[in-house]
Amino acid sequence: MTLEDLIYKPGLLTGQRVLVTGGGTGLGRVMSEALLLLGAEIHICGRRGAVVEQTASELMAQHGGRVVPWVCDVRSDEAIQAMLDSIWQTHGPLDGLINNAAGNFVSRTEDLSSRAFDAIANIVFRGSFYMTLECGKRWLAEGRKASVISILTTWVWNGSAFTVPSAMAKAGLNAMTQSLAVEWGGRGIRLNAIAPGLFPTEGMSARLNPGGGEHKAVGNPMGRTGRMSELANLAVFLMGPGSDYLNGQTIAIDGAQYQATGGNFAHLASWTDADWQNARDSIAKKNATDRQQRQG
Ligand code: HXC
Ligand code: NAP
Repeated sequence: MTLEDLIYKPGLLTGQRVLVTGGGTGLGRVMSEALLLLGAEIHICGRRGAVVEQTASELMAQHGGRVVPWVCDVRSDEAIQAMLDSIWQTHGPLDGLINNAAGNFVSRTEDLSSRAFDAIANIVFRGSFYMTLECGKRWLAEGRKASVISILTTWVWNGSAFTVPSAMAKAGLNAMTQSLAVEWGGRGIRLNAIAPGLFPTEGMSARLNPGGGEHKAVGNPMGRTGRMSELANLAVFLMGPGSDYLNGQTIAIDGAQYQATGGNFAHLASWTDADWQNARDSIAKKNATDRQQRQG
């Protein structure tokens, strides 16, 4: 990505400090890059140290500025507190937070164990809330203005068969966004959310389109999947100055896929037992590779 892909004036975010959870990969990396290009100091966190370190080095080598990598599992409130204390003490207060970290996979709901539900809900629902709460407490104590963006899905409005833990967890964050926008808005903290349609990433494709080849935008009125710069421009708008009166909103960016098709995984009802077994085996391989990177 270059400044030409963004619609904002250079230096728009100079002096801003933003934390992007899951910023080492996929959409989190793209949003981090855009904020960096516009002058913000970026902090990214994830469970795989090598991944966040590599992303931070690559982005700084390409664009200059500062990207600070942190190993932090958002499922742990203690880990979040330790990271935020270090950021505040070593670098200074954050001005923005993007709740982007997530876990997900397709599965028939009757095939899930309680541990499988928790694996997703603990990252998305609990982790994003803990992070928002810990940042919010610090901002309120300091009387500091701040902007929070949570990355949701369009299923917060209509649910999603075959990704039920994700649909439930993201819907909870939609409620968090609306509720805290009211509770904290008068004290300078805005909360908004983005509901992206299909923006193919490695992490998403491996778990939601396992063994499925290239993602196709079937039924999308625009005839395509999303472009990373399109998402990045929306994230900058919600984070930056100029959207000060925008609060408590969840904005879809999906080419109207949700209106046209429901935008979810209802079509997997046609899968056979063998299809589900293949999907599970393929997802397990990706999970095992990622787990190894977390341990390594
Ligand atoms: C049923 C499954 C399963 C599957 C795992 N489990 N895969 N159950 N079907 N396909 C079960 C396991 O059997 C286990 O339960 C439990 O889930 C935990 O599995 P682990 O592999 O031990 O979990 P862990 O290593 O903690 O990994 C967490 C994870 C993994 C969430 C399962 O996917 C992950 O790390 N994801 C991070 C990145 C990610 O998911 N990115 C995609 C975001 S995309 P038992 O009972 O057997 O112990 C996204 C897009 C949405 O959200 C919108 C698209 C339009
Ligand atoms: P991704 O590349 O797999 O991103 C997920 C990130 O979250 C990874 O960097 C992962 O790093 C991090 N993460 C997971 N669990 C974590 C934990 N416990 N603590 C800290 N970090 C954790 O997938 P993506 O497609 O970019 O998805 C990013 C966000 O967009 C998600 O919220 C997803 O639901 C949403 N979204 C994506 C799409 C799409 O089409 N791509 C559509 C709608 C919504 P580690 O594994 O190293 O921790």
